[in-house]
Amino acid sequence: MYIGADYYPEHWEKSRWETDAKLMKRAGFNITRLAEFAWVMMEPAEGCFEFGWLDEALAVLARHGISAILCTPTAVAPAWVARKYPEILRQNQDGTRAFWGVRKDQCYTSGAYRMLSQRITSAMASHFARTPNVIGWQTDNEFDGRCCYCESCRKEFQDFLRGRYGTLDNLNRAMGKHFWGHYATTWDEVEIPAGDGSHNPSVGLEWKRFNSYLNVRFQREQVRILRHICPHHFVTHNFMGLYPRVDYFDLAEDLDHVSWDNYPIGGRPYLSVAAAAAADLMRGCKKKNVWIIESTSGPHGWGTYGRNPRDGEMRTFAFQQFAHGCDHYVWFRWRACTAGREQYWHGILGHDGRPLRRYRQATQIAKQLRKLEKHLAGTTVKARVAIVYDYDSLWAVEMQGGYQGNDYVKGMLRYYEPLLRAGVNVDFLKPGDDLSGYKLVLAPCLYIMPDGLAKRINDYVRAGGVFFCDQRTGVKDSSGLCHERTLPGLLSPALGIEIQEYESVYEAGYKMIGSGGLAGEFTAHMGADWVIARKAKALVGYSDSHMKKFAAVTRNAFGRGAGWYCGTVAKEPAFYEALIAALLKDARIRLICRPVEGVEVSVRQGRGKRLLFVINYTEEKKSITVPAGGRELLTGKTTGKTMKLARFGVAVIRL
Ligand code: GLA
Ligand code: ZN
Repeated sequence: MYIGADYYPEHWEKSRWETDAKLMKRAGFNITRLAEFAWVMMEPAEGCFEFGWLDEALAVLARHGISAILCTPTAVAPAWVARKYPEILRQNQDGTRAFWGVRKDQCYTSGAYRMLSQRITSAMASHFARTPNVIGWQTDNEFDGRCCYCESCRKEFQDFLRGRYGTLDNLNRAMGKHFWGHYATTWDEVEIPAGDGSHNPSVGLEWKRFNSYLNVRFQREQVRILRHICPHHFVTHNFMGLYPRVDYFDLAEDLDHVSWDNYPIGGRPYLSVAAAAAADLMRGCKKKNVWIIESTSGPHGWGTYGRNPRDGEMRTFAFQQFAHGCDHYVWFRWRACTAGREQYWHGILGHDGRPLRRYRQATQIAKQLRKLEKHLAGTTVKARVAIVYDYDSLWAVEMQGGYQGNDYVKGMLRYYEPLLRAGVNVDFLKPGDDLSGYKLVLAPCLYIMPDGLAKRINDYVRAGGVFFCDQRTGVKDSSGLCHERTLPGLLSPALGIEIQEYESVYEAGYKMIGSGGLAGEFTAHMGADWVIARKAKALVGYSDSHMKKFAAVTRNAFGRGAGWYCGTVAKEPAFYEALIAALLKDARIRLICRPVEGVEVSVRQGRGKRLLFVINYTEEKKSITVPAGGRELLTGKTTGKTMKLARFGVAVIRL
């Protein structure tokens, strides 16, 4: 197991390196990540490479048993690059260029930038291919799909569309360019859509796909070189969890594994639902365990700093990730830098470089993780519940959510949160993935619905799956045009409902009355479909005026499975708890352990082992019912029926 911290030797006097390496070793660390933004130190002038300093740093680390992941440093182009090739700087919509001096301000269609990126990547790869303690690579830093509006990007956007649609006629039709007379009569007339959302949403969707693709392509060019020159090294990238601008399924494709940056600290200690969801999405990108390659180790911020992790809290962040399928753990950063924009992004050490409280915490965590290492080997999360996560739908919703306040990620979390609170493990799938291994599949706001996908969902339900979806499902085709069919279109067999009309719902909302497992009174707000239950059974209805004849939640028995639909957003979290409980029941999913408030449980399994993680994110003691007779791996004790957890306490029980 690799445990360590991100290190920037170039930020410190050489005389300090030995001390740092010694301290890392003493903390039980064996990995670091280097050279993330050090392009200019490695190529101070075009084509002149200087790797001596990094060789020295690597040698110091090697003496203390510490391996390294090297980064291609392309997230910050040196000043000489920007001077010599000004076109590499991203262009804003008003024609001005980004100011050099921050980071990630490059144009990804710039031939110069791509050539320079490939050259530094080749030079680094060739130089470090045989350095014994280099084990892998991180491409760039946090690809973020930022747009550039330069002429070269416009031309490439046209090429991208030509590749997808072939002829101008097809493009005009697929983008609905007959509207407002936007017909393009030559390819050159195809414009980049404005970023303010007023342009054609179909073109907007393609533009988002294009910008995501540019990052994937840029990375691919580096990956090819790294694989060719360093076939024995792994290649990864530091993803950003629920960050929406890049299709992470695509970005992950060329990599050996996904790594990601997790900064879950908020206003007070709490169970971070977003960090759990992000972990599951990150694992889902390659259906494979991941690395945490950056993680909170102190108060962080650029202008002002946030809260400091309390005693024991850093361990909850780490264990949450292991509970969701992380295998290696790296903190950001080793030591807070005394210079630059991230002076307040604190690390394990502060500016003073002394190994104090946070260092002691990291040391303890590293020790405990090592204790778990052999048990974790060969295990991962094996979920029976999946969420379909679709970047196309996310992007389309962003431009045109339909009902007021529609937000793809927030909508997904509305269902994810009660699943997490119920102690249910979840996989994230892309729309093309096979659903058949899951008992329950939720597809929140699957706005973009190609016909093939609808067919596969019907098949899944027919074969016995329980499927759930909600408002704005299946409204558009893959080029962002609204389907002409009455909703839910091709999903009608599985769902057994008809939606002829829908609306946004203002302040007070509509009253809903539920029955059975969903018994109770709830409030519908934000938006409502006027759902007519045809073959489906209405489980929740409305008691307000015109809504009385419509259903809010329906269940349709179809084939051997069931298709569920929710046509609104409820104000009350209790609604979602009841809904998830009903879905779990319908899908016959039994839980090993039910968490109490502020405590998370998660199971990793494999090679005949089952490990139950129990994590207390609060400052209070907790007690929780667990399966008796297991062995808690940190203490070696056999578990009774109830388990007591200290503040920020963690336990890993081998069942
Ligand atoms: C990101 C980057 C790091 C660092 C941190 C803190 O996660 O990957 O290089 O800048 O943010 O801002
Ligand atoms: Zn550009």
